[in-house]
Amino acid sequence: MERWIALPCRCLLQGLGLCISIWVVAAAASEKADPIPKPWPLQFHAQLYQNRTGKLSMIDLWYDYPNGRNLNLIQKQLGSVIHDVEYTNGTSFYYDLEAGTCKVVLFQVGILRPDFLNDATYVGVDEIDGYKCNVWDKADFIRYWEDIETRRPISWLFTTTGMWMHVMKFEEGNVLDDQKWQAPPSCFERRVASTTSSALKASEVGERERQGIYIKKAVVARKAMYHSDK
Ligand SMILES: *[C@@H]1O[C@H](CO)[C@@H](O)[C@H](O)[C@H]1NC(C)=O
Ligand SMILES: *[C@@H]1O[C@H](CO)[C@@H](O)[C@H](O)[C@H]1NC(C)=O
Repeated sequence: MERWIALPCRCLLQGLGLCISIWVVAAAASEKADPIPKPWPLQFHAQLYQNRTGKLSMIDLWYDYPNGRNLNLIQKQLGSVIHDVEYTNGTSFYYDLEAGTCKVVLFQVGILRPDFLNDATYVGVDEIDGYKCNVWDKADFIRYWEDIETRRPISWLFTTTGMWMHVMKFEEGNVLDDQKWQAPPSCFERRVASTTSSALKASEVGERERQGIYIKKAVVARKAMYHSDK
């Protein structure tokens, strides 16, 4: 990953006139402001391929900023489907319809703003998944690749959790039907987890703990992200 800045070294081999013009180009290039990521569309659907240090899943991300909601539908490889619905009021529902489990998490922050990468640090140009991209880092939390040609996001990596997303589909303006956002009754019953936990198999307990870790990491990461906005 290197910035494309003309090097003055070649001047030694060139005539004086050419040398000066190279210097002028180099100075102009270095004075040019760093690029800024294109803000997310207010509503979109993205299909993401996630590789979380070897654990694979397909994620449908439904981002709906005007309605203050965001849904990650996570299909783990040959495993369960997890809904992760986040509202701008700070409430998140994390549920598995088949298993009938649900976790409600209160964040102090809502969903990401479309311009949440505005103050990210420009890293340079890199090729990923076969696309030549501009790359940014934000708050030691996310690395973000945007296609130089189309300005669509190609990939992002949550550096704290190792969740690495590759964008397979990006549909601006695609909105998920209202009823698909509805959390199941299990999310609104109190102490569901504690009354059913004795019936869980050891592997399910492990899975629940893993989800707990996922959520804790997401809380920490999201807080870090928002604090760096100030
Ligand atoms: C997933 O990522 C790991 C590195 O974390 C890599 O070794 C592996 O090849 C990747 N697998 C796939 C299928 O992308
Ligand atoms: C946030 O909004 C959702 C969806 O409308 C709702 O179910 C939830 O109870 C709200 N949370 C708070 C803390 O108001």
